[in-house]
Amino acid sequence: MSGGVVIIGGSGHLGSRIVQSWLSETDMPITIITRAESEASFTNDARISVHKGDYTSVAFLKEAMTGQSVLVCAMGLTAAPESVELVYKTAAAAGMKWIIPQGWGNDWQNAQLAARVPPMSAAKASRSMITELGIPYTGFITNPWLDWNISSGLFSIDVASRKATLYTGAVTRFNTTTIAQVALAVVRFVRQLLQPEPNFRIEDYRDREVYIRSFLLTQKELLEAVQQATNTSADDWKVEMQDVQVYIRDGESLMGQGQFMRGLFQVLFGCLYSEGFGGDYESDKGVDNAVLGLPQEDLDLELGKAIKG
Ligand SMILES: NC(=O)c1ccc[n+]([C@@H]2O[C@H](COP(=O)([O-])OP(=O)(O)OC[C@H]3O[C@@H](n4cnc5c(N)ncnc54)[C@H](OP(=O)(O)O)[C@@H]3O)[C@@H](O)[C@H]2O)c1
Repeated sequence: MSGGVVIIGGSGHLGSRIVQSWLSETDMPITIITRAESEASFTNDARISVHKGDYTSVAFLKEAMTGQSVLVCAMGLTAAPESVELVYKTAAAAGMKWIIPQGWGNDWQNAQLAARVPPMSAAKASRSMITELGIPYTGFITNPWLDWNISSGLFSIDVASRKATLYTGAVTRFNTTTIAQVALAVVRFVRQLLQPEPNFRIEDYRDREVYIRSFLLTQKELLEAVQQATNTSADDWKVEMQDVQVYIRDGESLMGQGQFMRGLFQVLFGCLYSEGFGGDYESDKGVDNAVLGLPQEDLDLELGKAIKG
């Protein structure tokens, strides 16, 4: 595929790691689109070309994308849906050849999850839109990122205050991925699009999701690993138990009571732990780690890095 890669959101938690990984894994250039109001700065590397401007300007976006072929979208969660849509439409108008869309989370293709978490349908809608635009896409299913969510406390494990809630009932193992692993997967995949190896069949990845993971574990196993990484024992922690269905239902109530995001995360994580909601996509669908040559990471090491920050 001729042309290069463009990333939008290249200064973020994920985007900055993709840029970093791109520079170390390839010798190809990378174009970064950043907002006019952004205070982000980028590594001083001759292979990086930065386009700073107004995301409502088609002319600006088009100019940054023209002549390039793969668009990676790693815009923050607060990016307006219309803005993301305009980015996709402009990529098509600029003649780009492949989109790695927003998403980067739970398996929106799991029917039970989609039914329980209505916002998951946004991923399906955006992919349909991209297809209508006539550009192939490949999405990335990563589940909650291990390091980001250890810091956010969304696993209900509060490292600083040594408190945790473990969910009970019909719970199961779930996949989780480090941001570094997500970034490496994107870089290896985009490199294959641009410079495919003989055994890599691009068409196998057209209009579908790639599933990647770092680990498969229960919430209890995660807590035990956190205890090990913090040199603490079970006695140092205050651990409560709660039925996972109660946790999900409380989240749904919060969503309807003006605390939409808090409730949404609660429902998403409750579903992550629950049987049948696609949290363990590795066992259901398999993962693409091997074809992308992703390393097997060490949980203690990754948690140690995440906890140190
Ligand atoms: N699976 C998970 O656990 C998980 C966790 C977090 C996020 N995510 C998802 O991964 C994607 C990237 O997340 P992230 O945490 O890396 O994002 P982020 O760091 O919050 O933001 C990424 C970049 O987006 C740009 N940006 C910020 N606000 C924006 C806005 N309102 N409109 C347009 N651009 C904006 C900024 O780049 P410039 O300043 O350079 O413009 C920012 O550095 C999102 O789709 C998010 O939903 C998944």
